[in-house]
Amino acid sequence: MEIKAQFNPAFKPVHKSKKRYIAMKGSAGSGKSVDTAQVYILRLMQDKGRNLLAMRKSEVTNRDSTFSELLGAINRMGLGQYWKATLSPLKLTCVNGNSIIFRGTNDEKQREKLKSITFDQGKLTDVWLEEATEFTQDDFEIIDDRLRGELPPGLFYQIKLTFNPVSKNHWIKGAFFDVDDKNVLAHHSNYLNNRFIDQAYHERMERRKKLDPDGYRIYGLGEWGEVGGLILENWDVKKTSYQTEDFDDLAYGQDFGFNHADAILLLGFKDGDIYILKELYLYGKDTGEIITLAKNFNHDYLMWCDSAEPDRIKMWKKAGFKAKGVSKETTKGVKYQKSQIDWLKQRSIFIDPSCTNTLKEIEQWKWKKDEVTGDYLDEPVAFFDDAMAALRYGVEGWRKPHGVKVKLFKGGL
Ligand SMILES: Nc1ncnc2c1ncn2[C@@H]1O[C@H](COP(=O)(O)OP(=O)(O)OP(=O)(O)O)[C@@H](O)[C@H]1O
Ligand SMILES: [Mg+2]
Repeated sequence: MEIKAQFNPAFKPVHKSKKRYIAMKGSAGSGKSVDTAQVYILRLMQDKGRNLLAMRKSEVTNRDSTFSELLGAINRMGLGQYWKATLSPLKLTCVNGNSIIFRGTNDEKQREKLKSITFDQGKLTDVWLEEATEFTQDDFEIIDDRLRGELPPGLFYQIKLTFNPVSKNHWIKGAFFDVDDKNVLAHHSNYLNNRFIDQAYHERMERRKKLDPDGYRIYGLGEWGEVGGLILENWDVKKTSYQTEDFDDLAYGQDFGFNHADAILLLGFKDGDIYILKELYLYGKDTGEIITLAKNFNHDYLMWCDSAEPDRIKMWKKAGFKAKGVSKETTKGVKYQKSQIDWLKQRSIFIDPSCTNTLKEIEQWKWKKDEVTGDYLDEPVAFFDDAMAALRYGVEGWRKPHGVKVKLFKGGL
């Protein structure tokens, strides 16, 4: 059997470890998820009797994160013929009988489901908590409890946690990094150790260092920090299969980009709530290429764009889209972004789990800090905010509804 696996040397200590707990903290892009997925695939193929439970706090996000990472690892290593993937239920099964299942702990029902986990063969031996800072310590205890009982010789239990160190007050720091415990391997990595990262990524991180020093500590260096001053916390992940008629209105929002991402979001508006249904998020593509990639978009919905680039708006119009610039305003001295954000804060925002870049941005999007006083200012940090700009633009027709359908206003706006 030919396996074409490539690894980052930074993860060697993790590969060798048989400790029960492996806590892998790291910057964005350090290679944690790819490494973890590749190692699990190889481990399950080699050691009969092992089975993996892959987890995100919110069960529905597995499909576009842990599941797609593991499937990506299978394909990258040329092992497709040894695995079978199913979407419903979400599952990966190896020809040797070992398998991988996917769960969450978002509510009681999901937690209950953890108690009845069984496998065709062998026991649950491995758990991967992806974006582990989303889990509470209670969640962790429930999961840890599932790994018990005698195992056949040669097998061992192991839980891996992969995460960005978003807060130095997080329970994970106390439980795994501030203790001396022979059962724990506390690991650290950052994007500088990842030999597969491209030059453009390095340049983006250098920009972040200047524009967002606090964020750079966490997402650039992988050091414990504090994501304070978050702008939007009124959101939730929600799987939404939809028909046009399910909503009061639908629209696109687009923030143009090339070195930054070009972000396009499909947004739904219903009873005053906002649904982020789809995203297109691309680096290094020109307008013509993006239009080609957007060929399945609905030409009937308005597309609200950054007004600073009229030439690009023109190209979208020519391609048949209802593209429009968002006119900027200053209201009583309040910054224009601020009034859009105030409007967004007053409703619920539901994000489809497929919008992975939007989710990453919204978790990090925060107010600038006055370096002298430490107070947060009324201005967002201008970094990693492309989907957020698309969101601000996309709601324009509902925020300033002159001449837009009156039916939008049901639901007490
Ligand atoms: N072993 C590998 N082989 C090939 N490419 C890799 C490998 N490891 C990492 N990469 C590349 O580096 C990128 C970042 O890696 P990965 O997604 O694992 O980072 P991460 O640490 O999980 O980041 P985040 O904290 O943002 O989730 C991948 O998208 C992939 O392009
Ligand atoms: Mg990752």
